[in-house]
Amino acid sequence: MIEVKNVEKSFGDSKILKGVSTIFETGKTNLIIGQSGSGKTVLLKSLLGIHTPESGTISFDGRIYSELDADEKRELRTEIGMVFQGSALFDSMTVAENVAFPLKMFTNDDKSKIQERVDFVLKRVNLIDAHKKLPSEISGGMQKRVAIARAIVNNPKYLFCDEPNSGLDPNTAILIDNLIKEITEEYNITTVINTHDMNSVMEIGDKILFLKNGVKAWEGNKEEIFRTDNEAVVAFVYSSNLFKKVREAYLKE
Ligand SMILES: Nc1ncnc2c1ncn2[C@@H]1O[C@H](COP(=O)(O)OP(=O)(O)OP(=O)(O)O)[C@@H](O)[C@H]1O
Ligand SMILES: [Mg+2]
Repeated sequence: MIEVKNVEKSFGDSKILKGVSTIFETGKTNLIIGQSGSGKTVLLKSLLGIHTPESGTISFDGRIYSELDADEKRELRTEIGMVFQGSALFDSMTVAENVAFPLKMFTNDDKSKIQERVDFVLKRVNLIDAHKKLPSEISGGMQKRVAIARAIVNNPKYLFCDEPNSGLDPNTAILIDNLIKEITEEYNITTVINTHDMNSVMEIGDKILFLKNGVKAWEGNKEEIFRTDNEAVVAFVYSSNLFKKVREAYLKE
């Protein structure tokens, strides 16, 4: 479980996160939604320790990040897997080398142990014959799978994904979302996903944090989001005609 308490983050004079508090639960896909510029990536990077909030606390199963020493922070970092926006694979490395990278960085595992683990996670994301391919030789959906395999190769307790399905066709996007949800439940990971995709909300929204201008405007789950009369949520959902209809159907039930 990750507990975020009153987190504030500014860049220069502009305050981006204005006192955000929430809980991201273990074994659940926790989504952060909100318009472009609402602060989703800044919040995710604050969880990762890339940004340092000027106030508030973030605790990882009771470990308050700002109170950890350098060794404890390093240890915690090895417990986090990250899928960056746009996959961010190393272009000159093969798929297998990309996935092996965190193990070479963070563990002392020998070659055969690394290879065994790489085989296992590539199989888990349904990529069997891609080991020797370069990222440029596989599709966008396959690249996302490689990024997910790399993020889980070190058995993370926490998995952060920034727009994992952006740029994919709707079917592939749902496959990727469902893969992340399955892995989250199978390995009991605390997963946090940034998205502005209402499809993701409907498919995997165990917990949804809705950010508006750096403030928590609403939180709930995928059933609740279509029933709430919270104005900000309604405006966000209603921006898509399709989901306007979905919401109307939900309310009629
Ligand atoms: N390193 C930075 N320095 C200064 N301003 C920043 C920095 N990172 C983000 N911001 C600002 O913080 C605000 C929120 O940005 P953020 O990237 O979190 O939005 P987002 O919700 O992730 O949007 P999107 O859906 O487009 O990815 C934006 O106004 C952005 O310009
Ligand atoms: Mg973003």
